[in-house]
Parts: sequence; C-alpha cells; structure tokens
Amino acid sequence: MQSFLETATAVAREAGALINEFAAKRIGFELKGEYDLVTAADRASEKLIVERLTSAFPTHSIVAEEGGGQQVSSEYCWYVDPLDGTTNFAHSFPVYNVSIGLERAGLPVAGVVYDPTRDEMFSAERGSGAFLNGERIRVSKAERLDDALVATGFPSRRRHQNVNVHFYYQLAMLTHGVRRAGAAAIDLCYVACGRLDGFWEFGLNPWDMAAGVVIVEEAGGLTTDMFGQPVGVRAPHILTSNGILHPEMVELFAAIFREEYRYPMVQMTLPSL
Ligand code: IPD
Ligand code: CA
Ligand code: CA
Repeated sequence: MQSFLETATAVAREAGALINEFAAKRIGFELKGEYDLVTAADRASEKLIVERLTSAFPTHSIVAEEGGGQQVSSEYCWYVDPLDGTTNFAHSFPVYNVSIGLERAGLPVAGVVYDPTRDEMFSAERGSGAFLNGERIRVSKAERLDDALVATGFPSRRRHQNVNVHFYYQLAMLTHGVRRAGAAAIDLCYVACGRLDGFWEFGLNPWDMAAGVVIVEEAGGLTTDMFGQPVGVRAPHILTSNGILHPEMVELFAAIFREEYRYPMVQMTLPSL
C-alpha cells in the first residue's frame, strides 16, 4: 500500500506544479455544460496523472473526470480529479486542488489531495491515519452546531434542481457560518484537519470524494449520506463531520427533508432604515 500512496503523492505534486504554471499564465476557459467550466490546465493535469498512474500500475482501472482514464478488469480503481475547483481556478480564486483516490474492491483505501497554492499535501491510507505535509491530523472536537464552522457546495450541473439552499439557510442560522469555497476535496480535508467541523453536498462525483473520504475517516471523522447511512464514492449526497456533530446534523437534515424548518426564510420586504 505504501507505494500506492507514495506514487500518488509524487504524481499529485507534479500535477500541482503544472497547474501553478497555468495559473501564472492566466489562461481562459471553455464550457462543457451550461455553467460547467473546463480549462487547458484540467486536461494537461489529467493527461500527466493518467500517464504516471498507468505506467506505475498498468493493471489498475482509472476513472478520470475529463474522460482520460482506462477501464480494465481489476479490483483496484483510481479516481482522478485533475483540478478540483475549476471555476475558482478560472477566476484566479486560489482554492483548488488535485485529488487522487484509490478504491480496492469497492472500498476507498487511500487518497491524496494536493493544494498547490498553499503547498498543502493531505494524504491517508486506510488504517494508518491522515496527514498534512507529513504531520498527523485529526478532526475537531466541536460538540454542538452552535460552536461549529461548516461548509457546503453547489454543483454546476443541473443546478436549478438543487435543493441545497434550504440546507444552507438552516445551517447558516445555527452555526458560526457556512463556507462555500468551491473545491469539495479541500472541504473534506478541512474537516479532516479541524479547520471545518462538517461538510455536506448533493450530487458530487466519485473523483470529488474518493480521496477526501479516506482522509477524513482516517482523521477520526465520519462520512455518511445525509440520512446517516454508510456511503461509497457513488453516493447521491454526502455528509461528513467530526463524528460528534453527526447525530445533530442527521436529525436536523431529516427535518429539512420533511420541509420542517427551524428558521423559516425571511420574506422579501424592503428593509426599514
Ligand atoms: C466541483 C467543486 C465544487 C463542488 C462541485 C464540484 P470541479 O468540482 O468541487 O466545490 O461544489 O460539485 O463539481 O468541477 O471544479 O472539479
Ligand atoms: Ca471536482
Ligand atoms: Ca475537476
């Protein structure tokens, strides 16, 4: 397993350096969906990562966001997000990363998430703890949503069907705040190292979460779906926390799914000055 993580770490660092070169050039973007951006940096990073993984592990499958992977019959499957946070990257908003996760027989077993703007390498393999630049990390000890800083995200695809605004509003009322930084793999790693206490999102893809899920769980956190049920990397929604907050979040989310809102949204009236 060690060589899996070592290879993934080296590859993520190399891809991050490549992304930094593109960032310095301030390249443009294209649309692959109505509001779904892709850049030359996504494609170049993916090409590099897939080439390196294929040459190191020729018998493994690779699922990569921009379509450059390879499907073979193997119990090992790599999930590659060559640039998570493309919209941020395209706007020079410095929150994006390279995410590489490994699944064995359907179970996420190792992952690295590299933030090239901060030179932060998050890594974990199942059973061996989670690390940030080689230092052990652990989830926060926040005990109540009242004391928590949480995060969420909104996918670009089918965004008119996303109900997350209801969750966003309730959590914004009940916590210290809800961050929407725009890179799901970093959100997961920030829960792992205690910068955030919880995170949830609808409609993530396997490459967004495969690495982050192992990192957060190895840091002592809990990852389920929004009903509190166990999830794999293909789950329709994800809820992660330091574990302590999980029961409170699951209970709150169940109420929101039933459209029982603790804080009804304010009516749109002109503010009185
Ligand atoms: C996106 C980011 C964003 C999340 C979206 C993802 P991409 O990934 O992780 O935070 O809200 O759901 O699709 O497209 O930039 O790789
Ligand atoms: Ca992504
Ligand atoms: Ca991406």
